[in-house]
Amino acid sequence: MIWTRLAPEPLEPHGGMPMGNVPVKWEVASDERFATVVASGEAQARPELAHAVHVEVTGLQPDRPYWYRFEQGGERSLTGRARTLPTAGADVGSLRFGVAGCQHYEDGLFTAFGHLAREELAFVYHYGDYIYEYRGDMLRPGRGQGGLYVPVRRHEGQLIYSLDDYRRRYAQYKSDPDLQRAHAAHPFFMTFDDHEVDNNWAGDIEQEGAPPEVFRLRRAAAFQAWYEHMPVRRRSFPNGAALQAYRSARIGNLVEMNFLDTRQYRSDQPCGDRWGATCPEIRAQTAAMLGAEQEAWLTRNLQSRDARWNVLAQQVMMMSLDRRRTPDEAPHKMVNLDSWAGYEVPRQRLLSRLKGLDNVVVLTGDEHQNWAGLLHDERERPVAAEFVSTSISSGGDGQDQRSGSDLILRNNPQLKFVNDQRGYLTCEVTPDEWRTNFMVMDRVTTPRGALSKRATATVGGDVRTSPSADAYSPLEAGNPVSRCYRSRTKGAAA
Ligand SMILES: [Fe+2]
Repeated sequence: MIWTRLAPEPLEPHGGMPMGNVPVKWEVASDERFATVVASGEAQARPELAHAVHVEVTGLQPDRPYWYRFEQGGERSLTGRARTLPTAGADVGSLRFGVAGCQHYEDGLFTAFGHLAREELAFVYHYGDYIYEYRGDMLRPGRGQGGLYVPVRRHEGQLIYSLDDYRRRYAQYKSDPDLQRAHAAHPFFMTFDDHEVDNNWAGDIEQEGAPPEVFRLRRAAAFQAWYEHMPVRRRSFPNGAALQAYRSARIGNLVEMNFLDTRQYRSDQPCGDRWGATCPEIRAQTAAMLGAEQEAWLTRNLQSRDARWNVLAQQVMMMSLDRRRTPDEAPHKMVNLDSWAGYEVPRQRLLSRLKGLDNVVVLTGDEHQNWAGLLHDERERPVAAEFVSTSISSGGDGQDQRSGSDLILRNNPQLKFVNDQRGYLTCEVTPDEWRTNFMVMDRVTTPRGALSKRATATVGGDVRTSPSADAYSPLEAGNPVSRCYRSRTKGAAA
């Protein structure tokens, strides 16, 4: 899937485009200089889709890089680089991919995406919060510390509701050169979380209380704009307020990626969705996180065991943590009600399905912190490992440890690592070992922030017996991995 959008004046109405169809030439080559073009064609950029162009290229070889570009009216796009997946049954000896998301434009620069663009990766999994819906403000409420601060840069416009609003917000985000570099360097598997639509939305429920049929109008606008701006296949074409986002991808016999949708089919957050509160409702029998259909689909995929590692690539934290930051903060456990912890019945149902498996890794976003730990079933036995990726920019510079992190680590023995800096994950996977690198930025609120490897978490043969706590000590930087996949046998691919 290759993607572009024509928007010569990104923030102007219709991106500065005339309201008519515009033909766009596209080319795919097997070399960077386009000496050998292996596929080409012409696509219509249509005003109904904000002059976005999605092309599903067929007839390519598996497991090799390709370069692509678009041309219209004498203007040529950046050259994009992508990599096809190995065939489903290919014997794949290693894989290296990235995990990123949560990119509030006002909170920080996207320097981390510039660093991500220079990594050698087969693909990037994006866990959502690609845009934030909030209005542009001269001053924003402080990040948990109270007070006000001046944003690093400012959203154009008000809180977004209409299709034009969402398009303009995507146009502003996509004007960022570091984000453009990351997309040009790697193929992305896109998912969404809440801010692509509205903070903490859940199914048909909007937090400010709009009637469901009214909220669905807004969601339809948000979903259309999401489709228009994301490199996703035709099967994710929006149908009103509905959109098929959950799907899977196989990386040969090494990894099965299950990309989940934890927003569209969930029930409303319990206990009034108040931070830290708990109530009996978190054990509601009827609560839903994935919905019945997606749950059945996931169960089938987990049972197939066609790949060495089974990944749940999803949005909100699955570990249920006691988040008290001081011993007297609350008399009871404090949980994040928007995460799986607010949905104990579907959470336990999923964890019980993982019990017999030794190969499940959960990748998560949303928290704007790095976390690593084990998922326990109801009898406190580990069933999977979870790696939570921080944010590209949301939350601002951060620091190595938030105050209270030491208490959270003490109160949650399944939790092995916490860090509150911005950045992304890289995952290095072989049949014997899963390594997650926590790549962090020294700063994101001023230019030229530096990247370093804060820690590496290693999972051995059985996810239920690792990772061990000592796997999380900071490592020296370096350790380059030069290839994205390494096939164990020479396959059909060049
Ligand atoms: Fe976020």
